[in-house]
Amino acid sequence: MKTTGRIASGLCFSILTLLGFQVQAQDVSHELTYNGQIGQIINENCVVCHQEGGIGPMQFQTYDQVRPWAPLISFKVANKEMPPYAYDEGIGIQHLIGDWRLEAEEIDQIVAWVEQGAPLGDPDSSPPPYQLKDPNEWNFAAELGQPDLIVPSNSYDIPASGNDLWSTEVVDPGIVADRCIKAVQVKPRGDAAAVVHHANSSVLLEDEEGEMERYGMLTEYAMGKWGEMVPDGVCRTLPAGAKIQWSIHMFPGGVGATAQGEMIEDNVVEIGLWFHDDEYAEDDNNYKQDLALYRIEAQGDLVIPPNGYQMTQGFHSFDHPIRLDSFQPHGHLRMNAASLEIFYPETGRTEAISQISNWSATWHHSHIYGSRSCTINSSWSGTGIEAVVRQHSR
Ligand code: HEC
Repeated sequence: MKTTGRIASGLCFSILTLLGFQVQAQDVSHELTYNGQIGQIINENCVVCHQEGGIGPMQFQTYDQVRPWAPLISFKVANKEMPPYAYDEGIGIQHLIGDWRLEAEEIDQIVAWVEQGAPLGDPDSSPPPYQLKDPNEWNFAAELGQPDLIVPSNSYDIPASGNDLWSTEVVDPGIVADRCIKAVQVKPRGDAAAVVHHANSSVLLEDEEGEMERYGMLTEYAMGKWGEMVPDGVCRTLPAGAKIQWSIHMFPGGVGATAQGEMIEDNVVEIGLWFHDDEYAEDDNNYKQDLALYRIEAQGDLVIPPNGYQMTQGFHSFDHPIRLDSFQPHGHLRMNAASLEIFYPETGRTEAISQISNWSATWHHSHIYGSRSCTINSSWSGTGIEAVVRQHSR
């Protein structure tokens, strides 16, 4: 017995030593450096905005530019505030097209690298170069080329300070046949990005008496929005003869860290449209998509108690089968969280589809559902969607 015991403890000892050795070897081979792993993560996920002339307030193109910001970078990525894409993990649909969130491993690596003093690493190697993008380039240009049609708003000079400004105007984009929209991006030109809070566009059509009638919504833009891709097999129609009505909301002086506090001359907002070909537009098998605003509550005053929250909840039900392709809440400075659920009347059950619990008014994304778009079947007639929004006071 004694002998066996000794052998056993001897074995344990050697296993421990072996493990200890392995851990050490691993640590050395995984030393995190800018030139090793971190520069690549930053180049791929941050430089698109944090470059000269980009919308980020500082540049991350080289180690020397990154190094002074290392502690703040660690904080922002650990809190999931950067890259700016606050879609909650672990709730609802997680496969999104154009998802900017970092992998958990990338976040851990950045945090560990900063804890280690944010070293440069081997001076003779460097991270793969970033794809430098012209900040004024269309976001879908790499995949789809230049837009098939660009519709500019009228030009305005926005003073450096003053009250909010609104502009409603109608422009004629010259559409002669029904077109299916493949993608759309709204882009304030140059410095206009800092002052345009939102720029919505509707489609108007002339009725028989020559009066302009509202046909529907074309697209919606709010600060930080990248653009909308319409999924394959879906048609969002821009009808022949469509006129486009803009509704643009501007803050003189700008908002957030990108605010310049300066006059913006020649403020123009553009809609870039990419279309499918004519055959696609004639295919009746395509889902028809509309972009509609379903208010979750009659508009009225919201009372938010001091140091407190106010929740708003609302339902919308459909009398036909639908498919939800994306989730895009819209809110202003007091909005704090938003979620979307499906409500099944037969069982009273709700299913969470999407949630954002750390909302920022400077980033409005259309979170486009990936392979598992969410279908609400016809047999569940009366099935509704439920939206909950939380606002807070400061
Ligand atoms: C889509 C553009 C975009 C991307 C991508 C992006 N940023 Fe930012 N970043 C901004 C803008 C705009 C601001 C200033 C406004 C704000 O904080 O929202 C900012 C602010 C910051 C700040 C400063 C915050 C402060 O409080 O002063 C840090 C640090 C930062 N970003 C780090 C990163 C890192 C690290 C990445 C990549 C992992 C990244 N950002 C990706 C646009 C971006």
